[in-house]
Amino acid sequence: RLFPVIMAGGSGTRLWPLSRPHYPKQFIALTDEGESMLQQTIKRLDGLEHLAPLLICNEEHRFLAAEQLRVMGAQHSGILLEPFGRNTAPAIALAAIKSMAKGDDPVLLVLAADHYMDDVNAFQKAALQAQAAAEKGYLVTFGIKPTHAETGYGYVKAGQHGPQDYASVYSFVEKPDAVTAQRYLAEGGYYWNSGMFMFKASRYLEELGKYRPDILEACQRSMAHVRADMDFLRIDTVAFEACPSESIDYAVMEHTDSAVVVPMEAGWSDVGSWSAVWEVNDKDDVGNVSHGDVAIHQSSNCLAYSQSRLVSLIGLDNIMVVETKDAVLVASRDNAQEVKTLVERLKAEQ
Ligand code: GDD
Ligand code: MG
Repeated sequence: RLFPVIMAGGSGTRLWPLSRPHYPKQFIALTDEGESMLQQTIKRLDGLEHLAPLLICNEEHRFLAAEQLRVMGAQHSGILLEPFGRNTAPAIALAAIKSMAKGDDPVLLVLAADHYMDDVNAFQKAALQAQAAAEKGYLVTFGIKPTHAETGYGYVKAGQHGPQDYASVYSFVEKPDAVTAQRYLAEGGYYWNSGMFMFKASRYLEELGKYRPDILEACQRSMAHVRADMDFLRIDTVAFEACPSESIDYAVMEHTDSAVVVPMEAGWSDVGSWSAVWEVNDKDDVGNVSHGDVAIHQSSNCLAYSQSRLVSLIGLDNIMVVETKDAVLVASRDNAQEVKTLVERLKAEQ
């Protein structure tokens, strides 16, 4: 059976000022549904046959995570706490080691806690197709049809496509530069890596051991004396501190010969910026998205997000306004990616 592992340790800086270090994106409701991205990730599993998911996040967010699971009555297999972020290759290794503790070797469905999907059925269909491949020992990525030369994603070139629902991966390139991404798009045959994966726990650890034995060993040491504290699982801080920081994409997916890709058309978005939030939300007749206490007049294609006060817009086009108690962002929709630069500048000036 499937064992979902939900990675919730990211920081979501491009969604400032709503997403903050102590309250990052995955714990926030960014769409009308009123549920956080994490809660939507868990709900998306309804109807799939699976074990109770394991959450893995930063220790700082343990009560936030536990409370969001409690409120929705979600069954889970514990919340694994990282004392500090070491990126996704170690996070997934900790989860894989934990999943094998009783001699099992489950198929892990590794999910990001902060992605949006429009079509749950398409996601579940892809998951079932992936499961068939994972059981054979493959490391599965879920491929998204690319629409532009995004440099923030991994690119998967699909190779041989047999009679199955998956294709072998000819190459995997994480975050290529703009020129390379353009070339991939023009050439065709490439998918974006969605950042979700499926594989047997043992197969991931084998491949990690092949390409990054240093990470595998540090994770094994960190899990040697894992300690349960209510729903939380605590690892060895000193051992984990010595673990190199690397993503699964660079550590394993770029190197393994066992990768396959399952195409997924689920209206996927990683909601990486405020313009992406605008894109995935329902709009009024003239393209406005509003959230919270908002009044919009003679404006179009805007996003207004209010957390604590009435926000009103008049005579604007293509503008995003995000209000929180201590900071307000006003930006053009075309410059959404620049929020990250702004946040870095603010941090440096502090
Ligand atoms: N537990 C834990 N610990 N989770 C983490 C950590 C960590 O140290 N670092 C990141 N995560 C979580 C994030 O919360 C997110 O859900 C997921 O892992 C992916 O991390 P990102 O930091 O958002 O990765 P990315 O967006 O740069 O790139 C990945 O996703 C792209 C698609 O959105 C890659 O897999 C790319 O290849 C992919 O295209
Ligand atoms: Mg991401």
